[in-house]
Amino acid sequence: MIAVALIATGASSGCTKDADPAARVWKRRCAACHGPDGAGRTRFAEGRPWADLTDGKWKHAPDRESLRRLVAEGDPASPMPPFAGTLTPEEIDAIVDWTLALAGRASGKTSQ
Ligand code: HEC
Repeated sequence: MIAVALIATGASSGCTKDADPAARVWKRRCAACHGPDGAGRTRFAEGRPWADLTDGKWKHAPDRESLRRLVAEGDPASPMPPFAGTLTPEEIDAIVDWTLALAGRASGKTSQ
């Protein structure tokens, strides 16, 4: 989690953009539901354990292709919205990597 914060603030101090586009997308498009750290402890995700992206447990297959499709098309059976019109394919690629990194970072340790 500290690593996330460091990456998000980044080395550049430009005021409009984060150094990492994924950090920017995460903050603007995902954090409201999944939480800044991806653990899903928000009122939008309450009662939806799959919204915890840090627990290493997946409803959808945790490979790039499946997650790219999920982020683009959303999951109609859940509050997870589609982002195909909102994010560019490059941003979706970046946020998928970010998502996979959240789980990787958290696995093996419980910080809370
Ligand atoms: C409106 C709230 C909301 C927003 C915004 C949102 N999500 Fe979700 N997302 C959810 C919920 C709720 C779930 C759990 C769905 C379920 O219960 O099946 C979910 C599920 C997921 C999953 C599937 C996890 C699994 O176990 O397979 C991924 C990956 C994901 N979201 C990534 C993202 C990313 C990346 C963004 C930003 C681009 C994002 N979400 C934005 C609410 C949201």
